[in-house]
Amino acid sequence: MTGHLIHRDAASTLPEIVAGRGIELIDSTGKTYLDACGGAAVSCLGHGHPVIAAAITAQLHKIAYSHTSFFTSQPAEALADRIASATPGDLDHVYFSSSGSEAVEAALKMARQFHVECGQASRTRVISRRLSYHGATLGALAVSFNPARRALYEDLLFPVTFIEPCHAYRNALPHETVHAYGARAAAGLEAAILRHGPQTVMAFIAETVVGATGGAIPPAPGYFADIRRICDRHGVLLILDEVMCGAGRTGTFLSCEQDGIVPDIVTLAKGLGAGYQPIAATVCSRRIYDAIACGSGAFRHGQTYSAHAIGCAAALAVQDVVVQQNLLDRVISSGAYLRGRLGKFFADHPAVGDIRGRGLLQAIEIVADPPTMRPFSAQLGLAARIKAEAFSRGLLVYPGPAVADGSRGDHVLLAPPYTTTDAELDRIVDMLGAAIDAALVSVRKIAT
Ligand SMILES: Cc1ncc(COP(=O)(O)O)c(C=O)c1O
Repeated sequence: MTGHLIHRDAASTLPEIVAGRGIELIDSTGKTYLDACGGAAVSCLGHGHPVIAAAITAQLHKIAYSHTSFFTSQPAEALADRIASATPGDLDHVYFSSSGSEAVEAALKMARQFHVECGQASRTRVISRRLSYHGATLGALAVSFNPARRALYEDLLFPVTFIEPCHAYRNALPHETVHAYGARAAAGLEAAILRHGPQTVMAFIAETVVGATGGAIPPAPGYFADIRRICDRHGVLLILDEVMCGAGRTGTFLSCEQDGIVPDIVTLAKGLGAGYQPIAATVCSRRIYDAIACGSGAFRHGQTYSAHAIGCAAALAVQDVVVQQNLLDRVISSGAYLRGRLGKFFADHPAVGDIRGRGLLQAIEIVADPPTMRPFSAQLGLAARIKAEAFSRGLLVYPGPAVADGSRGDHVLLAPPYTTTDAELDRIVDMLGAAIDAALVSVRKIAT
């Protein structure tokens, strides 16, 4: 690349995107791509949606920006109301920002302020899980377990305790039921809290369905109910990061509704604005809001673009479309269809170790030896090869290179729009199968 833009990879030569229609993206040469991952599980309504474009334009003609220290705005108030009514329990106050990382930063600061307001300033420790990703800013990165993303900044990150994720495929014992495994995985949190002393622990943060690093790992049944009880027992706040799996991606507004629990704080981003605007939300319970509002009176956090009127207007329009078109039901039926197609297509595949997910967040884990779950060598870069093979065929998928242990293991994540048809899902599966096989041929050539 010869321009001035800093790209993710300085050596890359990227095609230029010029248009998008539904599930398709079109580059400047006219090549079309089937967007099976919505970028990073973002574009839940596909591309070029006229209703969202109209809502953004209408808001632009009213007011684009005003600072939250001077004014509130109708779209921000309406979006907060909408989120409060869509979320379960007493999750009813919302702080808006512009990215998932910012939403997580706000969640961590809110948790800390809550304890200080309640006279428990000794609570500073965050417990998180291995194989999790919560964002790129320093606070969000500190609670993320992604060695490649952390390595360079390790010395700048505050200390965090990491426990094992609830990952039945890799961690359940032979003959252990999923319920028993879920209880054992949750017990890891209680052991960590007791080890540090409950009065020092501020929050436990987890992705309800692990996304980018773990590859669509759903929790075992009962796991989060146990986690909720453990947090309550020790006065630890439960932060669920639903930046990727929330806002309908798994078939309910919050994914944790399917686990029957309500967190103290939940973060949302990607599907909230569907990529039409950068918008994220940190939603907290009334108990947390009241402690702050009736305590010092102000959340000690603030950003210039918080509650941006156009971001909020876009997200409101996205959520309207989701409700009006009954898309959460569609996510459930299409997710089941996709899962069925993947299961059938890869049933006897020699390198597919696991197919997992919830709703329209599904992943395939590729392994060198399915019976032992042994991953391919990281040097082979299999996940990146699958992405490249898919891309050359006109299919966009989201790969991950660290799913086995944080530094090895290959998975491919699928997160198509909620509006994807069964015929499009069929094409995605067929093209993905061809891409995986081509990538495996290329790594086997290197290995021999
Ligand atoms: C669960 C989760 N949390 C936080 C983030 C960070 O979001 P962003 O990249 O918008 O800062 C991501 C991004 O992939 C994510 O998947």
